Amino acid sequence: MRLSVIGCGYLGAVHAAAMAHIGHDVIGVDVDDSKIEVLSRGDAPLFEPRLKEMLQAGIASGNLRFTTDISNARGAAVHFVGVGTPQRADGYAADLTYVDAAFDALVPHLSPGDVVAGKSTVPVGTATRLAPTVSSTGATLVWNPEFLREGWAVQDTIDPDRLVVGVPTDLSGERAADVLREVYHPAVALGTPFLVTDYATAELVKVAANAFLATKISFINAMAEIAEVTGADVTQLADAIGHDVRIGRRFLGAGIGFGGGCLPKDIRAFAARAEELGRGESVAFLREVDAINLRRRDRAVDLVIAALGGSVFKKNVTVLGAAFKPHSDDVRDSPALDVAVRLRGLGAWVTVTDPQAIANAERLHPQLDFVADRDEALRGADVVVVVTEWDEYRRDLAPEHAASLVSSPVIVDGRNCLDASAWRAAGWTYHGMGRP
Ligand code: UDX
Repeated sequence: MRLSVIGCGYLGAVHAAAMAHIGHDVIGVDVDDSKIEVLSRGDAPLFEPRLKEMLQAGIASGNLRFTTDISNARGAAVHFVGVGTPQRADGYAADLTYVDAAFDALVPHLSPGDVVAGKSTVPVGTATRLAPTVSSTGATLVWNPEFLREGWAVQDTIDPDRLVVGVPTDLSGERAADVLREVYHPAVALGTPFLVTDYATAELVKVAANAFLATKISFINAMAEIAEVTGADVTQLADAIGHDVRIGRRFLGAGIGFGGGCLPKDIRAFAARAEELGRGESVAFLREVDAINLRRRDRAVDLVIAALGGSVFKKNVTVLGAAFKPHSDDVRDSPALDVAVRLRGLGAWVTVTDPQAIANAERLHPQLDFVADRDEALRGADVVVVVTEWDEYRRDLAPEHAASLVSSPVIVDGRNCLDASAWRAAGWTYHGMGRP
């Protein structure tokens, strides 16, 4: 099928490449010349496993092209819109500027029978607002939220847990759902659940999923706070409750909490939208979820201060990690980088290393010292802080080797990802989060 993908950021670039991979003829459109130039060369503008190979294969096969000229979207059977919906500068709500601009630009190029599939994470009610302009051209709007996780984005797009399509409640909706079934045929044929809903449900599925995940993380971090005053170990607690299949162990990793381009802004936008709808109290707990999450960053900083005997001023602090999570070079709202910046603000000499995210982190925070080589970063440290659980630190860094590099063998494990007893046995003073 001929498809267009409007917006070639994280979501759009991966979606375009993955759709070409499964055999569609795809044109990616973005207003950013430099992004289009990079993608047209077959380079990935972000670190995402398998993306570069997939872009190059798509371009070589002729199935995948990129352009800044949206009129080239003409003739596609389905137009996916995957532009960003960041947090507004003046509040918690989502900024819909890019969504509205994308629809304004696309609508003049639509033909009767086209399907427009919104993928961006939007406040509930957005599809209903946009539908009349789309249907005035004879095209149909559906909302088809994306659940991809960074680091697994290619896999999550090709082989998703579920496909959700919100459609209008008339005949055009049924037809549009069939068109989307055809787009996702390989996954549908493998039995991937394909759920057809109304617009509001589809929009809510996305924010509800992210709100649930954020709540799960903040729940265990709240337990970490209680563990800290009682001497309990939150990692053992998570293991124990995680054996209950109704609870499950995943997303019960206590530590410095969640960040990234989705969870923080999505729960805030959801709370803001609920307020607008007169139902603020229904998701008031999301404010607590956010507050618990942000407190964990303070806690990590306090642990470093305490580990250094009360002050970090002019102490050498080595921070292992900058990305908001491993397998990503994304530093948007990264708890890791936030902890590093706060320590620098308190007068520490902060050296940050990360296997992928240094370029992005340095652009945002040039006041920090960035060192690509892990061992060089560790040399002379008065305290080491693990803030992103990359395998390079969690699995590959031997505590004996690390001890031979630092000035003082003191470590704060902001992700509870190290084997505390192995580090202690190698002479380290180990501090976890919510662990004695
Ligand atoms: C998230 C959702 O998982 C995905 O479905 C949605 O489409 C986009 O938002 P992503 O932002 O890629 O994906 O990251 P995710 O893997 O969910 O992790 C989010 C944050 O939570 C990271 O900072 C991670 O370190 C943190 N986290 C995760 C924890 O602190 N503890 C955990 O147990 C799990």
